[in-house]
Amino acid sequence: MKTRLTDFTMAYDETGSGKPILFIHGFPLNRKMWEPQIEAFSDNMHVIAPDLRGHGETEAIPGPYEMEMLADDCHGLLEALGVTQPVVVCGLSMGGYATLAFYRKYPERAAGLILAATRAGADSEEGKANREKAAAQAQEKGVSAIIDGMLPKILAPGTYETRPELVERVREMMAETSVEGVVGAQLGMKERPDSTPLLTQIRVPTLVLHGAEDQILPPSEAEATHTAIQGSQLHILPDAGHLLNLEQPERFNRAVADFLAALV
Ligand code: MLT
Repeated sequence: MKTRLTDFTMAYDETGSGKPILFIHGFPLNRKMWEPQIEAFSDNMHVIAPDLRGHGETEAIPGPYEMEMLADDCHGLLEALGVTQPVVVCGLSMGGYATLAFYRKYPERAAGLILAATRAGADSEEGKANREKAAAQAQEKGVSAIIDGMLPKILAPGTYETRPELVERVREMMAETSVEGVVGAQLGMKERPDSTPLLTQIRVPTLVLHGAEDQILPPSEAEATHTAIQGSQLHILPDAGHLLNLEQPERFNRAVADFLAALV
């Protein structure tokens, strides 16, 4: 499905009915990464999963795509769909940065947060320089250069051996991101503020999930997030890397289902 937001057209999936849950994908991916979750949770929830600007089937517009803009886009989608009750927001990695931006801007619209394979801090100077390099590389050589750099790290080492079909699926998803999308997201992530102070202000139930073998962000990031968010829950999933929801869908879904069951 597609809807027109302020200055671009956003693609999204909307299935099921019940309490709303919004899934925000990571970089450079799209809503297809939530397939196992969309399938599992649309049985008894209203599941909404957008493609962020410049990703998947959503139009690319010039960046930088600041995390606040991504949060505004998600909020705009909820408005367009007539969702007025608070939603559980589940974001992975860049989607987690956008989830924190969503909470910063629209705390009253959040019923709960699920922060997967993400972190609260801003980029280091080195990290920012790497984002500039990646953006320039995408412009010069295309998205394939970004895929070549990220694909070997985005899953747990063992997943490359045991799930070659998943590696291929992730490669295909990455290839659906436009150059403009890669550049916009990299430059937007580079600008993102430090959300660490926000963590102590989070007043909704929060679940923190991370892969034990994440090669992009270490599990210590999740531990720090969990420590800072009062009353949060933490699950570090074994045999999972950065895309833990795809690598360990059953464990991921069980943790999410238990968390959702406890929400009133
Ligand atoms: C992601 O998976 O969304 C990205 O790796 C996040 C990042 O580059 O910081």
